[in-house]
Amino acid sequence: MTRRKIGLIGGGQIGGVIAQLAAARELGDVTLVDVVEGVPQGKTLDIWEGAPVFGADSAVVGTNDYKELKGSDVVIITAGVPRKPGMSRDDLLNVNVGIMKNVAANLKQYCPDAFIIVVSNPLDVMVWACQKLSGFKPSKVCGMAGLLDSSRFRAFVAAEIGVSVEDVTAFVLGGHGDTMVPLIRYCTVNGIPVTKFISAEKLNAIVARTKQAGGEIVNLLKTGSAFVSPAVCALEMAESYLKDKKRLIVSAAYLNGEYGIKDYYVGVPVIIGENGVEKVVELDFAPEERDAFNKSFVHVKEMVDSVKL
Ligand code: APR
Repeated sequence: MTRRKIGLIGGGQIGGVIAQLAAARELGDVTLVDVVEGVPQGKTLDIWEGAPVFGADSAVVGTNDYKELKGSDVVIITAGVPRKPGMSRDDLLNVNVGIMKNVAANLKQYCPDAFIIVVSNPLDVMVWACQKLSGFKPSKVCGMAGLLDSSRFRAFVAAEIGVSVEDVTAFVLGGHGDTMVPLIRYCTVNGIPVTKFISAEKLNAIVARTKQAGGEIVNLLKTGSAFVSPAVCALEMAESYLKDKKRLIVSAAYLNGEYGIKDYYVGVPVIIGENGVEKVVELDFAPEERDAFNKSFVHVKEMVDSVKL
């Protein structure tokens, strides 16, 4: 049986960790594409040379040529540039959408049947642009953000209670930014409401920390942003597709009337299986949750509407 093929566009911090984890878990053969000469080749050579010791036979190849993505089953996109001094958010948005134009053209040409997971920021705009520019079915294009935000929330809750991270479930919906919506009511410890364990005051502090969690790491690192947790999360989504696991994962998904939204991408729970995003799951909101979600969506909408493709 041939191995599955995992394409990675962007061989920076996150792309490098995804390549390493995908190879170590033998999820498939990995092709890493980046525009900088030598970087994808060097990173993948490093991973491949460790393979005999971590015991994985996946092929790991780095290249500057998009045509090597031919036949990819899944493609994870982390290509983009970070904000530089003097650059506004709008400038950054336009530069990264420009990169997405190039990426989408290559996806169409070399892997039109792949399942696409976008990680590049600003996430809710980039995933929307990817779908529009590629013309792929919306169910085959999604974005990774909600799983990461939910994972951060879960980690903080588990540490506060002193319980295994595996036993904490949580949902963080909405856009990937300050307006994200951590849902306390849906946070449980193996089904037991979190409010049984943590006071409202402490939970509010955890919610606030979750919303700023990306920035907390940026401030500590000084250069760059989180790269291990985003890589793990993107790969989790890829695995659900490749193995048809039908995991229920918060993802930036195309909405076609669900949650009262049409033709935008927003973070919501979805089921990911062999057909991509197979179902959008609609949660019942309390009034204040609905307000927060709507506010987050308005922010996403404003950003998306400001983009000219
Ligand atoms: N094609 C392929 N790769 C590209 C292209 C392109 N057109 N343009 C830029 N790149 C590459 C850069 O050369 C760089 O190696 O994308 C890579 C981005 O890597 P990093 O700057 O290290 O960023 P990283 O930390 O990996 O984050 C990637 O994900 O979470 C988001 O905000 C984050 O938008 C950022 C993205």
